[in-house]
Amino acid sequence: MDKIVITGGNSLEGEIPIAGAKNAALPAFAATLLCPGEFRLSSVPDLVDINTTVSLLKEFGAVISKSLPNVYTVNTEKLSDVVASYDLVRTMRASVLVLGPLLARSGKAKISLPGGCAIGERPINLHLKGFEALGAKIKLEHGYVNAETPDGLHGAKIVFDIVTVTGTANVMMAATAAKGETVLENCAREPELVFLAKMLNKMGADIKGAGTHRIIINGGSELKPVDIGIMPDRVEAGTFLAAAAITGGHLKLTGCAPRDMEVVTEKLKETGCEISEGDDWVEIKGPKRPLPVDIETAPHPGFPTDMQAQLMAVMSIADGPSVITETIFENRYMHVAEMRRMGADITLKDKNAFVRGKISIYGASVMATDLRASASLVVAGLVADGITELRRVYHLDRGYQRIEEKLQKVGADIKRVSG
Ligand code: EPZ
Repeated sequence: MDKIVITGGNSLEGEIPIAGAKNAALPAFAATLLCPGEFRLSSVPDLVDINTTVSLLKEFGAVISKSLPNVYTVNTEKLSDVVASYDLVRTMRASVLVLGPLLARSGKAKISLPGGCAIGERPINLHLKGFEALGAKIKLEHGYVNAETPDGLHGAKIVFDIVTVTGTANVMMAATAAKGETVLENCAREPELVFLAKMLNKMGADIKGAGTHRIIINGGSELKPVDIGIMPDRVEAGTFLAAAAITGGHLKLTGCAPRDMEVVTEKLKETGCEISEGDDWVEIKGPKRPLPVDIETAPHPGFPTDMQAQLMAVMSIADGPSVITETIFENRYMHVAEMRRMGADITLKDKNAFVRGKISIYGASVMATDLRASASLVVAGLVADGITELRRVYHLDRGYQRIEEKLQKVGADIKRVSG
């Protein structure tokens, strides 16, 4: 099992290119199931979750090749099976994103119910409720979702009880094949959904309102395959911004989308970071010691839950106390116990984490538990006195493309040790 070894204390200086967004690439691959033909997806990040998605689509009969670095050709002319096994789905919950496209394309799908994960139970009841409103018949049997559309899909008005990112994506994709108008209310507004709607409209769908609470889909038009480049990853970018903030470093992130990260860059400015930005780059200079700020996660355009752990690392050495409130997931504080091992002073009470900034934290052996928790421990290790060893880095590789190489290039003393 690989581990990441960091000797803290180096300041960071240099440029980091940002990869394509995991949470835009995953629905984009799922969308290739909507119609037969050859798609070309570029700027696809090199991630374990992408490899898992490729394996899943191949299980369905898709023919996929990687023509150039980060470029995939996906041919879904012939789909064979429509079963996604538990073994695959349990390794990547986002596999449920194939449900909507398969219902739209084949009228049936059998997908293992994803189990919970480290950060919470993560049910998909709202996805299924949306499909049923569109006319699908859903049966839950032996841990599988059996979905069929005996009479096809029809337009409907659907109100999501809770704002759900992949729920909005899944039902939006199914609705492209629903005859008539579908109105989705209380939608997630994440930039990745705006990107997905752009891809679907380029395929011939008729979708309006993506990025707002209300999305209107006029379904039934014939779709065709497309070439599209995946949007940049705002969470990878935010993670490197946090690395500059915690080390007092000076980084320029290239190939990113500053407009997707405003709430994060504004929060980092409050900690004393100097930030400038252009169309596709952000430059950050971290302060000598971050000022404390309070953070409450919320659906976009609020502060992203996927950046909560990374900002907690920055607050662990802030010049005063801060309060972090996680409102999206019920168990997204798995990084706290590990940060405490590094000397961080954090008290949890209900949804709140009370962080008393310390002059310094120290290196320790720590365990990654989930994707963003592992990223936060890398960020903490960059400033910790001494050596931090991060185990179970497979969590990290699910969402970051060789993070240690990118950090090495800007001066971090970090390496991956196979073991
Ligand atoms: C997406 O997960 C992202 N994953 C997550 O990123 C991200 O943290 C999350 O959105 C929130 O922004 C992908 O896009 C692949 P939700 P998703 O449905 O869609 C509840 C990362 O680190 N809910 O928006 O699964 C749910 O339990 C990952 O890249 C229901 O109750 O999250 C949660 O409390 C982690 N029923 C809340 O809604 C449902 O049917 C928001 O979850 C669906 C969701």
